[in-house]
Amino acid sequence: MADLSAAAQATVQVRVQGAAQMRELGVSLAAFLRAGDLIVLTGKLGAGKTTLAQGIGTGLGVRGPVTSPTFVIARVHRSLRGGPDLVHADAYRLGSRLEVDDLDLDTELDRSVLVVEWGEGLVEYLAPAHLLVRIDRPRPAVPDGSAAEPGDEPRLVTITGMSSMITRLSQVI
Ligand SMILES: Nc1ncnc2c1ncn2[C@@H]1O[C@H](COP(=O)(O)OP(=O)(O)OP(=O)(O)O)[C@@H](O)[C@H]1O
Ligand SMILES: [Mg+2]
Repeated sequence: MADLSAAAQATVQVRVQGAAQMRELGVSLAAFLRAGDLIVLTGKLGAGKTTLAQGIGTGLGVRGPVTSPTFVIARVHRSLRGGPDLVHADAYRLGSRLEVDDLDLDTELDRSVLVVEWGEGLVEYLAPAHLLVRIDRPRPAVPDGSAAEPGDEPRLVTITGMSSMITRLSQVI
């Protein structure tokens, strides 16, 4: 993700029918990630940001479980296979860049993939480029019956990033 040109940005959208499919999307995404990559997750409470992060953790092959950080803001999940670690952070309670600086997230970045929930507008400066993943809950007027598990609802996932990566990603998701 070294290309900083705004012109080189692209977007792909994918509809996800349930939590299991959201995790699968994370696994697919992980195959494209390298140490130093920053993924910013955005979307309302309960949108599925942690669920997606769980899939990324599975795809990277890191020590789990990836959960919603309650008492800690960031957690390091070490790779179980010599690949990049996952640093999973939740910026919900962070109000300023100074507070982000205090976490020293960038010290781990050269050997990790950094995934930050609620990070939009706050953490982008940590890496030269990032992937922005927006999760929306479209409310269907009539349930379409495609839910695989109780509680499953469709989500619309919009991924924006370097066009070369988005092009490759759009072939697998
Ligand atoms: N299509 C879907 N994708 C993801 N999660 C879904 C989907 N449908 C239902 N769910 C459920 O919605 C919940 C999403 O919770 P999750 O913790 O991932 O959200 P979050 O965006 O991280 O929330 P928070 O803002 O509190 O951090 C889970 O209980 C999950 O099972
Ligand atoms: Mg969460």
